[in-house]
Amino acid sequence: MDSNILASLSYGVYAIGVKGEQEPSACIVNTVIQVTNTNPPIIAVSMHHDNYSHERIRETGIFSVSVFSEDTSGAVIGALGFNSGRDANKLKNVRHRVLAEGVPVIKENCCCWFLCKVVGSAETATHTVFLAEVVAGSEKVTGVPMSYTYYHEVLKGSAPKNAPTHRANPSSGSQSDAGRFICTVCGYIYSDPDLPFEELPEDWLCPICGMPKSVFVRK
Ligand SMILES: Cc1cc2nc3c(=O)[nH]c(=O)nc-3n(C[C@H](O)[C@H](O)[C@H](O)COP(=O)(O)O)c2cc1C
Repeated sequence: MDSNILASLSYGVYAIGVKGEQEPSACIVNTVIQVTNTNPPIIAVSMHHDNYSHERIRETGIFSVSVFSEDTSGAVIGALGFNSGRDANKLKNVRHRVLAEGVPVIKENCCCWFLCKVVGSAETATHTVFLAEVVAGSEKVTGVPMSYTYYHEVLKGSAPKNAPTHRANPSSGSQSDAGRFICTVCGYIYSDPDLPFEELPEDWLCPICGMPKSVFVRK
C-alpha cells in the first residue's frame, strides 16, 4: 500500500474547548465529522489518549468545537496545537469566551461554534473517538471554513505526533529542498525564493508556533 493514500482524505481545522481543572483550555484537531442528522445531531472527534483535552473530556463529558476560518491566524493554531494545557494556560493570549457550562469557545475569526455532550466512545491503541450530541451552537456562520489543505498549503502548517494524520517523513513533493528550512517544533517549512532564510531578521518568529529562528534547521 502507498502510505500517501490516507493523505488524500479531506478535513477542516477546529479548536476543541474543554473545562479545565483550574481554567478552561483548548486544543487543535482536524478530525471532526458529522455522524448523524438526528435531533440532536451527533458528531465524532478523534482525541489522543495523552492530550490533556482527552482527560478533561473523559472527566466532564462536555466539550466545544470552534470552526476556524481562513482568516484565523496560524499563531492561534500554534498556541493551541503544539503544547499542552497541563503545562500552560494556552488561552492566555487567545480571544475566547467561556460558556455557562465552563467550556471556552474561540473568537479569533472563527466561523461558528457548537457545544457537545458525550454520548459514547470507541477505543483504539492511541486515540479515543468521542461521539457527542450537539446541544447548542452559534446562530450563524461567518467567513470561509479553513480546510486542512488550506492549513498545509497556504499556512504551510504541519501536524504534531498526537494528530492522527501526523506523518513522520512527509514527502516533499516536486519542490526542491534547496533553501528550505524546517521548524523543529511545529514542522513549518520556510521557503521564500525572494527572501532567503539567512536574510530574515534575527527577531523573526515562526508564523505557526511563534518559536525563534534558532529552532529552524535546513531541510
Ligand atoms: C493541525 C493540527 C491537527 C491536529 N489534529 C489532532 C486530532 O485530530 N486529534 C488529536 O488528538 N490531536 C490533534 N492535534 C494535536 C493536539 O492539538 C496537540 O497534541 C495538543 O498539544 C494537545 O493539547 P492538550 O494536551 O492541551 O489537549 C492536532 C494538532 C494540529 C496542529
